[in-house]
Amino acid sequence: MRPLKRLKLVLGLLLAPILVVGGFTAESIAAEVIMYKNLSCGCCGAWAKHMRGAGFVVKEMPREDMAAVKEKYGISADLASCHTAIVDGYVIEGHVPASDVQRLLQERPQIVGLTAPGMPMQSPGMQAEGMPPKHYSVLAFDKQGKVKVYHRYE
Ligand code: CU
Ligand code: CU
Repeated sequence: MRPLKRLKLVLGLLLAPILVVGGFTAESIAAEVIMYKNLSCGCCGAWAKHMRGAGFVVKEMPREDMAAVKEKYGISADLASCHTAIVDGYVIEGHVPASDVQRLLQERPQIVGLTAPGMPMQSPGMQAEGMPPKHYSVLAFDKQGKVKVYHRYE
């Protein structure tokens, strides 16, 4: 083998694993969920479990000042639920199904985030594990305060 060709081969072998690791890291950062919740919130932990089941990495951040967290992320009283989560720059408020979060990260619309206001009884984290979401709407909200239905569960 000529020296130059050999050098290229060696460089290729050295760089390949770095590229693979780099790609993997970018993907896992994108799927990380930072969840602010009240210490005493049980359904919040159940939602985190639902998200982990869908492949997300969830970091639980217990806070006593959830009202301040809601204010910081622009969640008005009529959009509020229990926990406030941050995923790849988006705000996820309350019991939003993991599949909607995955769709959001794929479509990347110009919105602040998604919310399931209140505590919908038939939502992940509020009902038995594995049951389908029913009878509520996941809403999309933007900086201007515009709210749209993102996913209606009949
Ligand atoms: Cu809840
Ligand atoms: Cu919660």
